[in-house]
Amino acid sequence: MDSILVTGNGPLNGQIPIAGAKNACLTLMPATLLSEEPLTLTNAPRLSDIKTMTALLQSLGAEVSSLQDGQVIAMSSHNLTSQTADYDIVRKMRASNLVLGPLLARFGQAVVSLPGGCAIGARPMDLHVEGLEALGAEIELKDGYLHARAPGGLKGAVHEMRFASVGATENIVMAATLAKGTTVLKNAAREPEIVDLVECLRKMGAQISGEGSSTIEIQGVDRLHGATHQVVTDRIELGTYMLAPAICGGEVELLGGRMALVESFAAKLDAAGVSVAETQNGLKVARKNGRVQAVDVVTEPFPGFPTDLQAQMMALMCTAEGTSVLEERIFENRFMHAPELVRMGANIEVHGGTATVTGVEALKGAPVMATDLRASVSLILAGLAAEGETTVSRVYHLDRGYEHVVRKLEGVGAKIERIKGE
Ligand code: UD1
Repeated sequence: MDSILVTGNGPLNGQIPIAGAKNACLTLMPATLLSEEPLTLTNAPRLSDIKTMTALLQSLGAEVSSLQDGQVIAMSSHNLTSQTADYDIVRKMRASNLVLGPLLARFGQAVVSLPGGCAIGARPMDLHVEGLEALGAEIELKDGYLHARAPGGLKGAVHEMRFASVGATENIVMAATLAKGTTVLKNAAREPEIVDLVECLRKMGAQISGEGSSTIEIQGVDRLHGATHQVVTDRIELGTYMLAPAICGGEVELLGGRMALVESFAAKLDAAGVSVAETQNGLKVARKNGRVQAVDVVTEPFPGFPTDLQAQMMALMCTAEGTSVLEERIFENRFMHAPELVRMGANIEVHGGTATVTGVEALKGAPVMATDLRASVSLILAGLAAEGETTVSRVYHLDRGYEHVVRKLEGVGAKIERIKGE
């Protein structure tokens, strides 16, 4: 297995291009199942999760081609042959469950494996099921699979989610585009990836309003048609690389970045003493004077501080002046990076969903292990700021969500290389 070797070597300066959003692309791809006509996505990120979604769609009979070095994904679902998302694919990636709503809407049936336990928490699908049942679906759990049917088709309804789940919002919105009548989804998630999905669905002929607010209204239509859509910028990749100059010092411009995608995160960086400014081409982040200050963080649904940046923010707080409290409210077990950071000399105490981090003057390089996608990149950030060498193993986690990480960080002066394993 490959690993990443990072050697801390001071301030970073230059530009980093930000890719299209993994999480947007993973919900835009299943939208192809809603129409017989082709759907083409541009600005797609080159990631193993995208390959997993490609394999899943192909297993359903969709045609999926990767063009222009993977940045364009051309899909067609005119000849689907299966409505079953197999456990072997779903267990690799929870986002596989996003085929449920589209398949049910177009074919009146779908069989989708439950994702099973995952490293960062239980992540059940009850909110997806409740929303689709409100639209008239009958869903039962058999042999680890959700068997969903809507013999007379889905019907619009008013439904309020108990929690603003991102995936459940996406599944319910996609299903409602082809339902009869109007659906009003209350307490919907407001993430930019949902806004991006709705913009794409609208290009396909869907009638939707309210995206980006907590009430989304969908007027069902008989059919959707083809479209071409550009995937929104990845705000998590953006936030991750904003932390590179924050933790190492220097000044880096994140090309394609926009403040609106990372407002609450940027506010925390500002409070910590890191400057963030909009430029013509993106966002410029600079840390020039001494150590950052400790700030407290609570993860929340958008527009709150994203859980997907909590591990990376913890790496920064490990080097801050003072003590910060990081509270994780979205996932129940998302501090697996903490013991790895402690191996690098960090001072962290975890109690339930709260981590208390007291900054140290310098982290020390160490061999560490990636435990999930965002944890893996937090260890790379820590390694960039540490004295000596850090080897991060189990890099396959990183490949799920960060394209060309070595090239992008090398481009701003980091000492980082990928070591090929057996
Ligand atoms: C998406 C993102 C993920 C991000 C998360 C929260 C994708 C592909 N992934 O995941 O990177 O960390 O949003 O911003 O977009 N829950 C239930 N029942 C459900 C569904 C969810 O209890 O039916 C719980 C989960 O266990 C979790 C919380 O709700 O504790 C948030 O989950 P959700 O918003 O659904 O996240 P995902 O869509 O899985």
